[in-house]
Amino acid sequence: MSDGAIDLTTAGQAVRDEAYRGPIAALNPARSDLFQADAMWPYFERLRREDPVHFTPAGDFAAHWAITKYHDIMAIDTNHEVFSSQGGITLPISERREQEMTAQGGGMGQDSLFFQPDSGPSMFIAMDPPKHDVQRKTVSPAVSPSNLAIMEPLIRERCAQILDSLPIGEPFDWVDKVSMELTAMTLATLFDIPQVDRRRLTRWSDIVMAQPGHGVVDTWEQKRAEMFEYGTYFLNLWNQRVNAPPAGDLISMLAHGPETRGMNQFEYLGNVILLTIGGNDTTRNTISGSVYALNKFPDQYAKLRADPSLVTSMVSETIRWQTPLAHMKRVAKSDIEFGGKQIKAGDVVVMWYVSGNRDEEVIDRPDDYVIDRPRARQHLSFGFGIHRCVGNRLAELQLRVIWEEILKRFPDIQLLEEPKRTHSCFVKGYERMLVNIPTRH
Ligand code: HEM
Repeated sequence: MSDGAIDLTTAGQAVRDEAYRGPIAALNPARSDLFQADAMWPYFERLRREDPVHFTPAGDFAAHWAITKYHDIMAIDTNHEVFSSQGGITLPISERREQEMTAQGGGMGQDSLFFQPDSGPSMFIAMDPPKHDVQRKTVSPAVSPSNLAIMEPLIRERCAQILDSLPIGEPFDWVDKVSMELTAMTLATLFDIPQVDRRRLTRWSDIVMAQPGHGVVDTWEQKRAEMFEYGTYFLNLWNQRVNAPPAGDLISMLAHGPETRGMNQFEYLGNVILLTIGGNDTTRNTISGSVYALNKFPDQYAKLRADPSLVTSMVSETIRWQTPLAHMKRVAKSDIEFGGKQIKAGDVVVMWYVSGNRDEEVIDRPDDYVIDRPRARQHLSFGFGIHRCVGNRLAELQLRVIWEEILKRFPDIQLLEEPKRTHSCFVKGYERMLVNIPTRH
C-alpha cells in the first residue's frame, strides 16, 4: 500500500498483537500515527474490555483519563458541572512534544494556539456556561430547521453542479473534487462570502490543524503567515458587516448579536475558526467516508441502490461508523469517583467517541457498516449535552442531498486503492481517495 496504511485484513493480527502486548498501564492509543494507519481499533477494544476508565501516561499528548465505553462517555458529556470545556477540547500536547516543536520553530500547534483562550483565539465550544450558552444561541439560527429548509435547494443545486462536472471512466480524487467542494460551497454560503473564495476556507481549515512536515505546510513560519491572512480576511468581513444592516449570514449574526457584538477579536476569530472547522472537516470526511464504507461493504451499497429511501439511515450510520471527530477533551473541576477510579480536580479527561461508537455492549456488530440499522441516530459522533453539535442537522442535510443526487446519476463509484488518512487522533478523516465512476445512468 502506497500511503503506509495498514491493511487490517492481512496485517490485522500483527496490529492486534501489538495492542495486546505489554502491561495495560502503559497502553496509549493517543497517537496520530496509529490513526493514520487505521490501526487504533484493537487498542480501544482492549481498553473497553480491560480498563474502560484508563489512566493514560504522557506520550505525544499530556497524561489523561481515556474514557472508552458508550455510557461512560455520555455520562461525562452530560455532566458539564464537573467536566469543563474551558481551555480547549482537544488533547493537549505533552511537555516533551512541546519542546520538540519549539525546537523546530513551532509553538503554534492546534492545542497551544487555537484551543486555549489565554494564548489566542477562543471559541464557545471551549467555554462553559454562561458565556457558552449566549454565544451558541447567537449562531444557532443560521442552522435552524427553517434556515436549513431555505438552504436545501441551494445545496442540491451545488451538488448537481459538482457531480455533473466529474470525469467518467477516469480516476480522480474524491476528497478534492467532491467532499471539499461541497462543504466549502456550503460554508461560503453560511458566511456569505464570494464563491471564488470558497477553497480558501478549505485551505484555512487545513492550516489550523496542520503540523509542519505532514503534507499541509512545510514550516511554522508558513503556518503563521497563512493564519495571519485568514485572520485579516475575517476581520475585514466583520468591519464590513458591522457597518451594514443586520443580515442572515453567520458573520453578520455575530457582529450584530447583542451577546456577541462586544467580542474582542480573539473571541471573534476563535468562533470563525470553530465554524470553519466544524462545517468543513467533519462533513467532508463523512462524505468521503460514505464512499469508502459502501465500497468496503458492497452488499450495503447494493441495498442502497435497490432502495434509495435508505439514504437517511445510511447517513447516520456513516456518521457513526466514521466518527469524524475521534475525541473531545474535558478537565475535571472537582474530585470525582468515576468508573471505580479517582479523578482529581485538574485532571484531563478524554471521551473517545471513536471507541464508544464501537462499544459492542451498546451497538450490535459495531464494526460492521449496516445502512438500515434500527435507531441509526444512536451514536456519539455529535456528542451530548450542552455542546452537542450545533450543525448536526446541516451535516446530515448535506450528506442526504449529495447521496440523493449521486444515486440519480451514477450506478457505481469504485474505490481504486486505500485512501490516504489524516495524521491526527482528533480529526478522523481522509486526505486523498482515488475513485473511478465507470458510467452514468
Ligand atoms: C458529520 C459532521 C459533524 C460532526 C461529526 C460534528 C461533531 C461535533 C462534536 C463532537 C461536537 C462537540 C460535542 C460535545 O462536546 O459534546 C461539535 C460541536 C460543534 N459543531 Fe459540529 N460536527 C459536524 C458538523 C458540523 C457543522 C456542519 C457545523 C457548522 C455549522 C458544526 C458546528 C459545530 C459547533 C459550532 C459546535 C460547538 C457547539 C457548542 O459548543 O455548543 N458542526 N460538533
